[in-house]
Amino acid sequence: MIINWKPNRDSDKSLYDQIYNYIINQISNGDWYIDSRLPSERKLAEAMEVNRSTISNVLDELKSEGVLISRGSKGTFVANNTWSILASTSQPNWKKYLDQGIHKPNQTTIQMINKYEFEDGMIRLGTGEISTDLFPTEYVNEIMSNITLNSLNYEEPLGYKPLREAICKYLSKFDIELKPEQVLIVSGSLQALSLISIGLLQPGSTVFVEKPSYLKSLHIFQSAGMKLKEILMDEDGIDLNDLRKKLNKSGTNMLYTIPTFHNPTGIVMNESKRKQLMEIIKEFQLPVIEDDAYADLWFSKAPPKPLKSMDDSGSVLYTGTLSKSFSPGLRIGWIAGSESVIERLGDIKMQTDYGSSSISQLIAFEWFDKGYHERYQIGLKSSLKSKCKLVLELLSTHFSDIAKWQKPNGGFYIWVTLKKDINMFKLFEDALKSKLLINPGYIYDFNENNSIRLSIAYATGSELEYGIRKLSEIIRKYY
Ligand SMILES: Cc1ncc(COP(=O)(O)O)c(C=O)c1O
Repeated sequence: MIINWKPNRDSDKSLYDQIYNYIINQISNGDWYIDSRLPSERKLAEAMEVNRSTISNVLDELKSEGVLISRGSKGTFVANNTWSILASTSQPNWKKYLDQGIHKPNQTTIQMINKYEFEDGMIRLGTGEISTDLFPTEYVNEIMSNITLNSLNYEEPLGYKPLREAICKYLSKFDIELKPEQVLIVSGSLQALSLISIGLLQPGSTVFVEKPSYLKSLHIFQSAGMKLKEILMDEDGIDLNDLRKKLNKSGTNMLYTIPTFHNPTGIVMNESKRKQLMEIIKEFQLPVIEDDAYADLWFSKAPPKPLKSMDDSGSVLYTGTLSKSFSPGLRIGWIAGSESVIERLGDIKMQTDYGSSSISQLIAFEWFDKGYHERYQIGLKSSLKSKCKLVLELLSTHFSDIAKWQKPNGGFYIWVTLKKDINMFKLFEDALKSKLLINPGYIYDFNENNSIRLSIAYATGSELEYGIRKLSEIIRKYY
């Protein structure tokens, strides 16, 4: 339950009355359902920016009226008989529906990150997006003033053909040779993962992922009844011995990997490992999702070519996106694979949303076709490189005695591992109190861990300087 509301201090009504009415409204309109747990008094007071005693008084009143119920150390809940008290008409029990829904909710920490990203004054130390000041405003304005909107109808099932052709041309730079029929335009590469989960896998299948992995922060595959199984990583990426060991024992499998500038660790799989992995893939006839979201973003030396460039057995489903190298809001990504698979995924996409935004596809086509992509990457990479240098310097100054990390050669992330085990959720909350938003490593992992995913992409230089120093001060309180 996330509270985005504060009483109005200029109102004639007392804070008490406003909070009382707010809670009654939340319950009666079904936003807070029966049996849902309220945040603690302290958290409510913080979110609403009032004294804890005001919250306490309101909650006591609502408890005495039977609207809320206290369950000892478990907290305060919306009472079962609330509807009969509040509503003259009988309302559906949304909790029952929510509990039955197929898709699992986000982890609480991720829900909090999604909310606090939009709070004024928050320094976002973990956000995996390019900061607004790096956004290619001029190029986008040029594109917008030059495109002719003859039609904004739906596009064909696999997406706007000229864009698919442009993506084939772009991917040939990575030695990936494709026909436009092998490419499906999706609304961000996240949608490609959803389509795979419902179109290609059955409940009970296993999806192997690196430990840690971006995929662990989502519930896409688990919601469709699949298991995620962790494969260990070393400094060159996935541990092939561990993969082999676990593959032997399994039935229907798929591997999801981010070989280049891995999210969250920034690791790049080296070339020889890529070759060995492709051999394993062939030997076990193992389908693979290669997520290449950060392919363009190398600082000094290009990473090895994608697995897809070595794929002569049609085993690799390759996903890419414009979210990291241009704009996440455009919601344009792609998935490439064998024609039959792409056709099936395209068919499901048509049933899901009838195609990605035509206007976004048109912009993306111009972006590639007129060479904006190439031009923009030069400046973007150089900005990221200098921000990375700054963050590494700041880490050396403020973190060298309390944490370790690897220097990334591209991408957005530095994976900072604390030398001491501390309560990372508590740290996340403490950082929030100082207006620092961090991505704790446990959201990407199968177990607790004491890492933090720092991003060089979003915060400005001065925010990074303040934020990293402040974060080290907060962490030191735990040492
Ligand atoms: C590895 C990886 N894949 C996919 C995505 C999602 O990208 P999109 O905006 O294309 O859905 C992200 C975003 O953080 C990512 O890091």
